[in-house]
Amino acid sequence: MSNNNVCILGGGGFVGRHLAGLLATRGWRVTVPTRRRQRHKDLLVLPGTTVVEADIHDPAALARLFAGQDVVINLVGILHGSHKDFIRAHVKLPHKVTEACRATGVKRLLHMSALGADTTSRSFYQHSKGEGEALVLEPGRAHDLDVTVFRPSVIFGPGDSFLNLFADLLRLAPVLPLANARARFQPVHVADVARAFADAIDDPETYGQAYNLCGPRTYALAELVQLVAANLDLKRSIVPLGPRASWWFARLMELKPGAKLMTRDNHYAMQTDNVCPDGFPARFGTPLALEAGIDYLRGGQKDHYYGYRAAARR
Ligand SMILES: NC(=O)c1ccc[n+]([C@@H]2O[C@H](COP(=O)([O-])OP(=O)(O)OC[C@H]3O[C@@H](n4cnc5c(N)ncnc54)[C@H](OP(=O)(O)O)[C@@H]3O)[C@@H](O)[C@H]2O)c1
Repeated sequence: MSNNNVCILGGGGFVGRHLAGLLATRGWRVTVPTRRRQRHKDLLVLPGTTVVEADIHDPAALARLFAGQDVVINLVGILHGSHKDFIRAHVKLPHKVTEACRATGVKRLLHMSALGADTTSRSFYQHSKGEGEALVLEPGRAHDLDVTVFRPSVIFGPGDSFLNLFADLLRLAPVLPLANARARFQPVHVADVARAFADAIDDPETYGQAYNLCGPRTYALAELVQLVAANLDLKRSIVPLGPRASWWFARLMELKPGAKLMTRDNHYAMQTDNVCPDGFPARFGTPLALEAGIDYLRGGQKDHYYGYRAAARR
């Protein structure tokens, strides 16, 4: 690609920081819009990276952001919220993004969906992700726009909220009741996800495609939590909850004010295995094994900056 301007919506998040770091080291000029610039000032250590405050739900603001960009990457996603919140983030925003790409002449769009995205899912998260990816891949809409969609299983790595959450809980409690302990996942490292996005940008064979992204192995949730405990040298009892108790656990957690540990929507999503029978796409390299990549949990650090500092060699 001759020009190298990329706008990453959601670029200040966990995946976004790693991806911004990688793209900056590959010579891209990265623009990251955010609702609160103050929170992402650290991204400015990256060469050629700009962080701007913007309301990306406003079509006029999107058009201003996309003017002069060669590539747009949409990583925006939420795990908790009302049906309306999910539709706004996962369906209406992708719609506005494709419209703004068309209006500003952007020809390349990479879109983050999720493994299990499915318009028939009972989970609003999975349902809305399914609607969003169908919308961006729709041939009529995407005419003139080369779109690639990614669907990762749960993503781990420095700054993740999934394994770090269990690490925090295990440090606090000798006994951990675990909802949906048998739910299966195939965790993929954030560096592998970032590499897949970065490699796909100027690879025409990825245009119009959707890729599942998974690590090398599948695990039941209880195994993952045991692995985290072992990594932290903690001896803990994990008490698997049955289906009914799991639902009630999710319901209770939902009522808790503040950050949510789990909701019924997450519970519904976990009724379907989050695994890829075909594993990680060979064109994007070999994925890191979970066991080889969770040392970041040991320091108790939630270093959101690690990925791009490493990528930027700082
Ligand atoms: N992490 C995983 O295990 C995983 C697995 C599968 C798929 N995914 C998908 O991958 C994407 C990135 O995940 P992540 O873990 O990096 O998420 P994250 O850390 O929560 O970051 C999400 C980003 O989206 C932006 N955002 C969230 N809600 C928004 C809203 N209502 N309006 C505008 N911006 C909003 C935030 O931007 P500001 O706060 O800076 O404004 C934030 O930087 C999401 O689409 C997620 O669904 C993640």
